[in-house]
Amino acid sequence: MFFPLSFAAKAAAVLALADIAASIPIEAYTNVQGRAATTNATTVLAPVSNPNIDKVALENVVPTTNVSLIYGVNGTLDQGDMKVSHAMKYPTVVLEDIAAVTAVDCDATSVVVTFANLTVFNAAQTAWAAESPFVLITNHMGDCDAELERGIFLTSTLTFDTTTLEVTFASEKTDVSTTANVTEIAFGHLAGTAIAKRTTINPTYTMDFTAPLADNTVLYQYAPYVTVTADTATVGANVTFSGYFKYNWLLFKVEDLYFDVDTDFSADLALSLDLAASYSTSFAYTAPSLTYSLVSVPGLLTIGPALNFEIGADLSVNAAVDVTTEVGLALTGGSAHLDLLDSASSSTTGWTPEYTASINATGSVEGEVNPYVALTVEVAIDFFSGLVDLSAGLTAQPGLNNTLTLTASGGVDLAGVTGLNSSGTCSEGLELASEFVFDLDAFATQWYSTTLYSVAIPIVDQCYSWA
Ligand SMILES: *[C@@H]1O[C@H](CO)[C@@H](O)[C@H](O)[C@H]1NC(C)=O
Ligand SMILES: *[C@@H]1O[C@H](CO)[C@@H](O)[C@H](O)[C@H]1NC(C)=O
Ligand SMILES: *[C@@H]1O[C@H](CO)[C@@H](O)[C@H](O)[C@H]1NC(C)=O
Ligand SMILES: *[C@@H]1O[C@H](CO)[C@@H](O)[C@H](O)[C@H]1NC(C)=O
Ligand SMILES: *[C@@H]1O[C@H](CO)[C@@H](O)[C@H](O)[C@H]1NC(C)=O
Ligand SMILES: *[C@@H]1O[C@H](CO)[C@@H](O)[C@H](O)[C@H]1NC(C)=O
Ligand SMILES: *[C@@H]1O[C@H](CO)[C@@H](O)[C@H](O)[C@H]1NC(C)=O
Ligand SMILES: *[C@@H]1O[C@H](CO)[C@@H](O)[C@H](O)[C@H]1NC(C)=O
Ligand SMILES: *[C@@H]1O[C@H](CO)[C@@H](O)[C@H](O)[C@H]1NC(C)=O
Repeated sequence: MFFPLSFAAKAAAVLALADIAASIPIEAYTNVQGRAATTNATTVLAPVSNPNIDKVALENVVPTTNVSLIYGVNGTLDQGDMKVSHAMKYPTVVLEDIAAVTAVDCDATSVVVTFANLTVFNAAQTAWAAESPFVLITNHMGDCDAELERGIFLTSTLTFDTTTLEVTFASEKTDVSTTANVTEIAFGHLAGTAIAKRTTINPTYTMDFTAPLADNTVLYQYAPYVTVTADTATVGANVTFSGYFKYNWLLFKVEDLYFDVDTDFSADLALSLDLAASYSTSFAYTAPSLTYSLVSVPGLLTIGPALNFEIGADLSVNAAVDVTTEVGLALTGGSAHLDLLDSASSSTTGWTPEYTASINATGSVEGEVNPYVALTVEVAIDFFSGLVDLSAGLTAQPGLNNTLTLTASGGVDLAGVTGLNSSGTCSEGLELASEFVFDLDAFATQWYSTTLYSVAIPIVDQCYSWA
């Protein structure tokens, strides 16, 4: 690596870093907007017939307390699915699982179910006469349910018409909160959620984006003292996520909630920092939310995965300096398990960064120039219209910590400094220590924030002496 440094003048004295006070007043900075690349897409999951159920089997007419309902992207299983399982308070019949049901008509106080097959009608008569009350789940539109939702009816009395093969229920329309004990929702590539043998299901929700900033975007300016320019900046990520949610309606309690996030991430950042005087600040340039695509099961669940990125730096220098610095990161196959209820169960695998880094500085200066890029993958979950509303996410933050230290005699501890002269000193020189730093933080808004992975790799510790 190449670190040319030129020195305008000898330093007269070493200032303690804490003394690098604001010779410039520090106040709000100008956050220059970059390219707005927001794309909002909503993926709507609509009811899909459960392909694992044999619709002609007579057992489907028998009320059961365990029901599994499938939802698919745009009502098909080709592009992603969600499995919703309810442990019901009442025995329940899922009418769409009975092929012989040819019509379902609903109004505020009744449901009429019409059969086309006497054998199945008779089986229903036997099974249903014995159960009261029980629950009917409809997916038959009309007056029964909204287009993208299923209807839930709690029945009371019923009558059978053996000539028309119609069953008429006195019923009330209700919802899952009053008829289920526990609801479980699995989405994405969880083991055991492959629901069909014949159907190919894309099991994950995947987003990818590449987000270049226009070259030479000014990220931060505090005229006439400071200008930070992104000569080039490109951030790319592929994110795949899946998750599991379990809710207990009796206790109003989230019993399980976790997400699994798989990421490929790349970032290349070349920054120029022109500082006209002693200055100290931190700035962050936040790009507009790049992708906010919602996955929605109408009436039940909304999942909002979002990707955000930020470029920032912590700067602290005691004299005018021009710095150019580059940091590049490529990371493939990073996985994180984010348990919202238990931070100790959150874990990561495969976050091994490959990086490049360099810095050139012009000037006789002391301080720190620490640029970083942060990618945040956030997943928000909203269950049953705000009954549960929270989010969790991961922030991957690669960066470079560059410490510039003037080393007049007695100035600093030079242990570990390379490039010393033969007598082992670096007096009247400048030490440049650079580290590649990478942190992976997890957060679950209401509950915790924790660092899952953190690494600091020394790149160079060099003495440039002009003595
Ligand atoms: C995208 O969705 C987010 C979250 O709903 C919202 O805050 C943002 O304003 C939306 N952006 C656009 C361009 O619609
Ligand atoms: C009626 O349903 C039974 C049981 O599913 C089935 O065996 C029979 O073939 C069906 N009859 C007709 C006419 O579809
Ligand atoms: C419902 O599912 C649970 C968990 O899988 C199981 O323990 C229980 O036996 C099932 N009940 C019925 C009636 O199938
Ligand atoms: C869902 O259907 C709408 C309207 O037909 C279409 O615009 C959209 O692209 C589809 N979404 C997916 C993910 O296929
Ligand atoms: C639902 O909860 C009630 C009350 O705790 C309980 O009596 C019933 O057995 C539960 N039903 C199921 C299917 O677990
Ligand atoms: C995302 O996936 C595409 C297609 O596989 C690939 O070309 C691209 O390099 C990936 N992006 C990152 C940041 O790994
Ligand atoms: C890098 O610098 C930042 C401040 O800019 C500091 O918070 C962080 O602890 C430093 N990391 C290492 C590994 O020194
Ligand atoms: C540092 O200077 C060298 C030589 O001029 C150049 O090749 C390199 O790209 C520069 N690095 C940065 C980060 O500007
Ligand atoms: C090393 O640097 C010190 C301090 O500037 C100087 O006194 C000494 O003569 C130098 N030694 C050599 C071998 O250059």
